[in-house]
Amino acid sequence: MTEPNGKAGNNPDAEEQKTLDPADWAGFRAQAHCMLDDMLGYIETIRQRPVWQPIPDEARARFRTAAPQKGEELAEIHAEFMRDVLPYALGNVHPGFMGWVHGGGTPVGMVAEMLSGGLNANLAGRDQIPVEVERQVSEWVREIFGFPHGASGLFVTGTSMANLIAVVIARDAALGYQVRAGGVAAVPRRLTAYASTAVHSCVTKAMDIAGLGSDALRLIPVDSRYRIDLKALATAIEQDRAAGFTPFLVVGTAGTVDTGAIDDLAGMAEICRREKLWFHVDGAFGALARLAPDIAPKLDGMERADSVAFDFHKWGQAPYDAGFILVRDGEAHQQAFVLPVAYLARAERGLAAGPPWPSDFGPDLSRGFRALKVWFTLKVLGTERPGAAISRSCALARYLEGRIKSTPELELMAPVELNIVCFRYRAEDSVNAEIAIRLQESGVVAPSTTRIGGRTAIRAAIVNHRTGRAEIDALVDGTLAQGRTLAAH
Ligand SMILES: Cc1ncc(COP(=O)(O)O)c(C=O)c1O
Repeated sequence: MTEPNGKAGNNPDAEEQKTLDPADWAGFRAQAHCMLDDMLGYIETIRQRPVWQPIPDEARARFRTAAPQKGEELAEIHAEFMRDVLPYALGNVHPGFMGWVHGGGTPVGMVAEMLSGGLNANLAGRDQIPVEVERQVSEWVREIFGFPHGASGLFVTGTSMANLIAVVIARDAALGYQVRAGGVAAVPRRLTAYASTAVHSCVTKAMDIAGLGSDALRLIPVDSRYRIDLKALATAIEQDRAAGFTPFLVVGTAGTVDTGAIDDLAGMAEICRREKLWFHVDGAFGALARLAPDIAPKLDGMERADSVAFDFHKWGQAPYDAGFILVRDGEAHQQAFVLPVAYLARAERGLAAGPPWPSDFGPDLSRGFRALKVWFTLKVLGTERPGAAISRSCALARYLEGRIKSTPELELMAPVELNIVCFRYRAEDSVNAEIAIRLQESGVVAPSTTRIGGRTAIRAAIVNHRTGRAEIDALVDGTLAQGRTLAAH
């Protein structure tokens, strides 16, 4: 029964009690504040925790239950989260995390995520300020990367998706937009693309998904600094043309995943201009070094690319996920993805106004408000502070390089170009693999491993803005301690 003040009282049949909103808003609010405090506390005291710890069987088993029919109190589920989820996360918030290439996130990004959750915005398009926020960030990206007006940008999950989008745009620009209807099978020409042997596997996958075949990605050898060999690139293009293939795309990498090498982007841009090929740069983490004045010159030539893929969730420190694709020719970008249909018709006024929509530039229709966390991050921290953190990561990598070079038991395995350092304890591969695992299990520092020159390397990717000399020293000292113990057996 409705009370005189219009409230539903205790009547369980009241309309408002059938929604999924809390019946007790005041109680929910108190619990929500407690959850926010817990997460802020987690980040503030992260150094007191292990980077990572093995997951106990009982904790894992609690995630093997049937779907719940009846709900429980939010506070109980939050307690479960604090007990079973939070302690067993990957650890990339922690300054000791150096595995793979992961950003550390920021409290600013975290609270921005909460705001976008509340708005529950869908950025497919339509006339709403959230889309303007994405356009604003795209404009900032265009300026930062020195691209001309008319360039387009889009938030995506990550660089894997951004690279796929670039391959599709380049493919359609090469074959003509009728390929979108007819498919590549209807085209007699065989397209070929080029990248170094150090290219990330997601570019190979992109060739496969785009219907071009991963074999059509020619892997060009690298020089002693793991950069693409430009002479070999030019020769491969020439040989493919002579054999009847149609070269269409060259992918340069600004920060290779294994060693952080940066291809000679200006040299590649020149070859692409001469050969009339699409020049794409995979700058997953490295591209944002544009924000670090001392590192930015290493990326010269990137401003000449036709497209650049990168992530705000790596060196940009935005919470996952926040990939981005920037395309010089916004028209070509749109033509590769736009598909008018009646139920998504645009209008002059009203909600359906505001073309073009973000969904005209990529495969996704429903899209979250990724732009908000990046907008907040850049508005609160500016471009200078993330840029300074990038410089600091590179300085720490050089410090680590120095420590390795001055320690005879250790060997540097690749030149240090940016923030990635590959090294080994002078012992067999299995010892180095075991050292990395033991360091991860120690909870102090967490590097990963890769293969360099046919040997196992311990790889430290210094991406987290919280990492300092203490963690680098712990990595070296821990490696030596584990190495000596293992070598003694
Ligand atoms: C050079 C490079 N390209 C692409 C990727 C894939 O990016 P994402 O994981 O955001 O899809 C990575 C990931 O580390 C990378 O280092």
